[in-house]
Amino acid sequence: APAPTPAPAPETKADKKIVLGFSQIGAESGWRDAETQSIKETFGNDAQFELKFSDAQQKQENQIKAIRSFIAQKVDVIALAPVVESGWEPVLEEAKAAKIPVFLLDRTVKVNDESLYTAFIGSDFILEGQNAAKTMIEQLGADKKVNIVELQGTVGASAANDRKKGFEEGIKSNPNYKIIKSQTGDFTRAKGKEVMEAFLKSDGKNIHAVYAHNDDMALGAIQAIEEYGLKPGKDIFIVSVDGVKAAFEAIKEGKLNVTVECNPLLGPQLKKAILDLKAGTQPPKWIKSEEGVFFGQKAIDALPTRKY
Ligand code: AHR
Repeated sequence: APAPTPAPAPETKADKKIVLGFSQIGAESGWRDAETQSIKETFGNDAQFELKFSDAQQKQENQIKAIRSFIAQKVDVIALAPVVESGWEPVLEEAKAAKIPVFLLDRTVKVNDESLYTAFIGSDFILEGQNAAKTMIEQLGADKKVNIVELQGTVGASAANDRKKGFEEGIKSNPNYKIIKSQTGDFTRAKGKEVMEAFLKSDGKNIHAVYAHNDDMALGAIQAIEEYGLKPGKDIFIVSVDGVKAAFEAIKEGKLNVTVECNPLLGPQLKKAILDLKAGTQPPKWIKSEEGVFFGQKAIDALPTRKY
């Protein structure tokens, strides 16, 4: 008779995986893809974890549904990259009532009760906007009259609100620098191009500079400027935020002037924060990313080693 198969060893506490539910915004940009990859690599390659990944296709209602489903599945921890800032209180209260810690990744939320989330891991978007303005003024000269068009990110997103605020603060003290048009391009290349085409149609050669809240929209704007018959990076100065590889390539080609870095590789920091929390150490409320500003030769030199 065949030998009986041994009964599986009972699951011990040490074998139990930490189940992480991650509600991602979507796949609107190169930056977002890099963030998704960082999370999938970090948690997919670590046997301590099981990752449940949900793509919300840029819709808050899908993110709320995903969080409710994570709660119903009794995950151990939730990570949320919130598409917009407001409207999260009810679902975060549900997670809190279920005693599931929530980490905010990359974008922040506006809530009255800060205890509704454990920590925010991401960038200082106001500082990014300030750095974009500062570098633009340094490169173009404070005495020059500069008409700027702004391509905003997703309406209501902290990344868009704060990058706008930071940039406005950065040009406030110089009356030569004026935002003459500002519209959302939803953080996508296609929308960035479309909005830039409309700006060029109405203001044409009166536009001296573009401030794009992300590289993808700047890359769309570059296409629109070329099709309009002007030279991006020369006739029109362009600064954007993110620091994706394609932006570094555009700097090398002389079509983009500056990219302000925003780090999407947040997987390792999230993992550390979760493990710290599990071990009884409360992570800091804001775990900040370290970021630089790239232009000219510094950008060209950095291109071969860019990770995203
Ligand atoms: O929240 C970060 C922003 O979201 C990135 O700058 C942008 O590319 C992404 O879509």
